[in-house]
Amino acid sequence: MCGIVGYVGKLQAAPVLLEGLAKLEYRGYDSSGIAVVRPDGIETVKAKGRLKNLQALTDDGKKLSGSTGIGHTRWATHGAPSDTNAHPHMSGQKKFAIVHNGIIENYLELKEFLIGRGFRFQSDTDTEVVAHLIEHYFSGSMTETLHKAVNKLKGSYALGVLYAGEPDRLYCARKDSPLVIGLSAGAGFVASDMPALLAHTRRFILLDDNETACIRADGFDIYNANNEPVEKEPFTAEWDVAAAEKDGFPHFMLKEIHEQPRALRQTLSPRLAASNVELHLKKLTREAFAAFDCLHIAACGSAYHAGIVGKYFIEKLCRIPVQVTLASEFRYCDPLIDDRTLTVIISQSGETADTLAALREAKRLGSAVLSIVNVVGSSIARESDDVLYTAAGPEISVATTKGYTTQVSALYLLGLYLAGIKETAAPKTLAAYAGALAELPALVERMIGDATPAVQLLASLFHGANDAYYIGRGTDYAAAMEGALKLKEISYIHAEAYAAGELKHGTISLIEKGSLVVALATDPALYPKIRSNITEVRTRGAVVFLVTDDKSGFFAGEYEYIVTLPDAEPAFSAVLSAAVMQLFGYYTAAAKGLDIDKPRNLAKSVTVE
Ligand code: AGP
Repeated sequence: MCGIVGYVGKLQAAPVLLEGLAKLEYRGYDSSGIAVVRPDGIETVKAKGRLKNLQALTDDGKKLSGSTGIGHTRWATHGAPSDTNAHPHMSGQKKFAIVHNGIIENYLELKEFLIGRGFRFQSDTDTEVVAHLIEHYFSGSMTETLHKAVNKLKGSYALGVLYAGEPDRLYCARKDSPLVIGLSAGAGFVASDMPALLAHTRRFILLDDNETACIRADGFDIYNANNEPVEKEPFTAEWDVAAAEKDGFPHFMLKEIHEQPRALRQTLSPRLAASNVELHLKKLTREAFAAFDCLHIAACGSAYHAGIVGKYFIEKLCRIPVQVTLASEFRYCDPLIDDRTLTVIISQSGETADTLAALREAKRLGSAVLSIVNVVGSSIARESDDVLYTAAGPEISVATTKGYTTQVSALYLLGLYLAGIKETAAPKTLAAYAGALAELPALVERMIGDATPAVQLLASLFHGANDAYYIGRGTDYAAAMEGALKLKEISYIHAEAYAAGELKHGTISLIEKGSLVVALATDPALYPKIRSNITEVRTRGAVVFLVTDDKSGFFAGEYEYIVTLPDAEPAFSAVLSAAVMQLFGYYTAAAKGLDIDKPRNLAKSVTVE
């Protein structure tokens, strides 16, 4: 939820830290701060609000000398957003400064312990205990002290630590919150996420849970849970710096919508052969797939919506039950899974706390876990039995677009793969699906170009709406859920999705003159049914925006507000309609002049439960 960055090298640290924080602001943006350490001690500057306040306060970092430092951008959990609660936090004698991402669950207990030993607290955060704890346990050896202090913590943490006595070193630790070490000639870095460092390096080391590290300009040392040194080989990230820039687009969200053809192509094509699908898994064999008698998908938010699209597709094709559970509920619903269940965990970031917890619960119950993840080496990827990586590239906008559609496409691949193994569909059928899937990226590309002017116009007409009702049947209902989320999270218009047939069971009482209804109709078999539902809401005064792939002319001439999708295999329409709804959310929020990439109260990576 928060972003951490640290630097040690020969450059002035503060501008480097601010530049890194700017790339991490999507992780939290209610306050920010930096600390630099020099031979004369540690200096911190913090500011409530967006990073630009901190940039202004420090003249883009130029006012702070020193070549070792840490920075933080915050999404508040404990303590309201304020200068005082912003990180870094200092220890009582100002010998240590720390930044933290995660939640220290036993902070009240530790606070009491430290107050009893004379420590005074400045902030309302859970984090401040860590700074005092390090000071309390300080033995002269930082690695030993850090090890001792983090052993007292319960909960999750990624920590960056400065010690006034060692101005040429940066310390860090992690448990259940992401942290990467970056390496370049003459400099060392630490950050929550790789995009923060891509301007400086593509060589990274992933810190594992319960590890601590000391980073210097000329190297690093990593220690395991027993404080023993461990050897780790750096890897080179495929992402480049351009992938984390806006590239001329006004917002990351729009850029990422337009990146979908490439992202889909890179996700699909290495796994699609002329007539079949190969997932290139490492551990889960075809025999293992043949033995699974059900699938259980767990995910949050848009990834959960992707799971529901996948359920419709896989159940139909593979004739195997697929249950989809919100990851935040997974542990509490006593899931019926065992070694004959394949648990599928979906997560763009690979770090979502509830999703990671669901993965661990599934493993505890004896299930094999296949994850669909975008970030290589993320916690979920590392803890799964196997990974089907999506190739979306870095997704910066809080509202997911390419992350979601690549997840959906990965589920299509999974369905085709499983159907091939279980022989639930004829080879000819599977080959036809594989062919249609290969065409999807080009169709998305054409559709984005064709639909944009119409969607812009609709957004300019409807941006004053207070509510929007998204309706559909079958896969369109699943797609409607994501459409509603896209609108509400960035435009702040209340939007909900309903199975169109459910309206008459209650919701239709909300429909009145001028109510906005976004209707999805991409399955020719369901056209007559959805048309009846549309007629019902129009009769009550609703204004209907129809998204359809009507080839037969079934809806022709009936609708003023309509976007027609290109001719595609109906089974894959959720990807095409998603792009229309992403554009609608985007241009609606743009018409309202909102901060599209950083919607209020949200953060990109939800690493707290
Ligand atoms: C949607 O636009 C959101 N950003 C959110 O619902 C997101 O999909 C959810 O938090 C899950 O994130 P993950 O895929 O990184 O696990």
